[in-house]
Amino acid sequence: MEEIIEEIKALPLSKNIHPDVNILKSIYRKSLEDSESFWRKIAEDLFWYEKNGPVYEPKETPPYAYWFKQWKTNLSYNALDRHIENWRKNKVAYYWESESGERRTLTYYDLCKEVNRFAYVLKNLGIKKGDRVTIYMPMIPELPIAMLATVRLGAIHSVVFSGFAAHALADRINDCQSKIVITTDGAFRRGRLIDTKGIVDDALNHTKSIEKVLVIKRAGNDVNIMEDRDYWYHELVPSTNPYIEPERVEGIHPSFILYTSGTTGKPKGITHGTGGYMVWAYFTLKTVFGADDKDIFWCTADIGWITGHTYVVYGPLLMGLTSIIYEGAPDYPRPDRWWSIIEDYGVTIFYTSPTAIRMHMKYGEEWIKRHDLSSLRVLGSVGEPINPEVWNWYYKYIGQERTPIVDTWWQTETGGIMISPQPGLALVPLKPGSATLPLPGVDADVFREDGTPAKPGEKGYLVIKKPWPGCLITIWGDNDRFVNSYYRRFPGVYYTGDFAVRDNDGYFWLLGRADEILKVAGHRIGTAELEAAFLSHKAVAEAAVIGKSDPVKMQVPVAFIVLRPGYEPSPQLRMELTKYIKETIGPIATPQTIYFVEKLPKTRSGKIMRRILIAIVENKNIGDITTIEDETSIEEAKRAYEELKTMLS
Ligand code: WTA
Repeated sequence: MEEIIEEIKALPLSKNIHPDVNILKSIYRKSLEDSESFWRKIAEDLFWYEKNGPVYEPKETPPYAYWFKQWKTNLSYNALDRHIENWRKNKVAYYWESESGERRTLTYYDLCKEVNRFAYVLKNLGIKKGDRVTIYMPMIPELPIAMLATVRLGAIHSVVFSGFAAHALADRINDCQSKIVITTDGAFRRGRLIDTKGIVDDALNHTKSIEKVLVIKRAGNDVNIMEDRDYWYHELVPSTNPYIEPERVEGIHPSFILYTSGTTGKPKGITHGTGGYMVWAYFTLKTVFGADDKDIFWCTADIGWITGHTYVVYGPLLMGLTSIIYEGAPDYPRPDRWWSIIEDYGVTIFYTSPTAIRMHMKYGEEWIKRHDLSSLRVLGSVGEPINPEVWNWYYKYIGQERTPIVDTWWQTETGGIMISPQPGLALVPLKPGSATLPLPGVDADVFREDGTPAKPGEKGYLVIKKPWPGCLITIWGDNDRFVNSYYRRFPGVYYTGDFAVRDNDGYFWLLGRADEILKVAGHRIGTAELEAAFLSHKAVAEAAVIGKSDPVKMQVPVAFIVLRPGYEPSPQLRMELTKYIKETIGPIATPQTIYFVEKLPKTRSGKIMRRILIAIVENKNIGDITTIEDETSIEEAKRAYEELKTMLS
């Protein structure tokens, strides 16, 4: 990769543009004009069993490209075996720390042996290429080990965030028809024991596809072991070090499914390929963070979300980096837990979310000042727009006005970072609140409603006009939904679902979602998913959920509920519904407020007027609502607004 970048950097620069902007622009141009040779050079940093045919092959239907279609590789080989053949063999891959302070250190060689032993167990349990493996686990080293063992066999993992409840887990198992669930007996969060295995047992009452459950001992709590279905990992794992030959899979073979919220009640099984995803995870980590062997990299995301998949597991291991996995809560037992981890391990690159930064802002600077954070050299932000105030605080107190902040925009669907400063290539002048420029290969634009490009300064929809290696390959089991969600609105162009504006320097400013998807403390939650959960409760006739702005979490869900005949609003019922949501989706979806109303404001065709509900909870005038749903007149909207206000008062 270095070679091609150096070649491009050596080209003559145009005048009157910042030199680093110039460099980025020429690399960017090259990546779009000559994608075949550009990505071939990047891909050569990684290992392939076969390199037949083109890197990039246009395809008639979405996502309009095959990446590495006939090339063959294996993600686990690239993440592990490749490194143990050289000096990195005994380099630390992960420093792991539990909430209670236990520590484990795993070198690349340790990790490789563990993954082979895990793969041996999975293989003996009958897992083979193409099988789906659901993983429901806390942040312990066995989580990445289980993922890598799965892809080693060419099987497909579906990691379900361990904060999801039984019902949500069951839905995700049923959708991909996985054969096995890997879990732990229990987990710890803020010192509390969580009965992980019990949640799995509940979920399995509502699924048919699971043949086996593999249980890793973590918390030592009593669990129910069902004969011929449940197996303790420690009873199956060999004491020797077997070698499991990695499955040689095609570039477009699915490597994993990760469920995320869409605009209907059913989560989408975002499916990533192998070759394109691998190149993207590797390339984006290198360009955005400029990481190398000296770095101690810490991405604080839970592995149950895409940020954890790409920047705790695959990206860092593909690059042979040393990184940190921390099991617990950011402020446990004290608000400086994170800062002490940075100090103890000498973390150099720190990647987190605006929600976490806002939480630490609330605790105050004193907690930071107790620690030496001088090892840090790059800070990252992901998951939500970071407003200038938070950016400046992050820069001043964590970065100590020395380190650049990379505000990275991307999605579960994009596999890795898409728009961000790229100090690994060249550091453009930063503007607090802007994710700056797209990465090489990312043909980003802002479109108006009618599909024409917006002018600088004009708000529109963020789109990606060309296929890029990290793009999802489909939605598991529902290719029509894949086409409709991403390529229907602007035919042939990837629709992100985000609002954005580009300034006169071509910098992108991300303005939040254009659809009914919420970001609650960085977690992506669909209002439709919450509504469906409410509607499955016997007392609920109608439900509308919207996002209310929140100073720390960015958004919190607020529900408007119409009860069925025979049910009366009461504080007890409100509590019962709140508990019900926690138990069906999970604690992250807990509604902040539930309003009982007699009816919901609707358009003539029966669509809920969400903007009116938003105006009510945000305490705004109806006049502040800029757009009203198409078929509603201002008068109708006003009437509905007043009616609802009276109902609530
Ligand atoms: C939002 C997370 C502004 C955006 C990696 C996107 C951001 C959604 C940023 C995807 C950012 C992510 N600035 N908004 N830097 N990063 N988003 O799938 O709305 O959990 O569409 O992936 O998060 O969320 P997801």
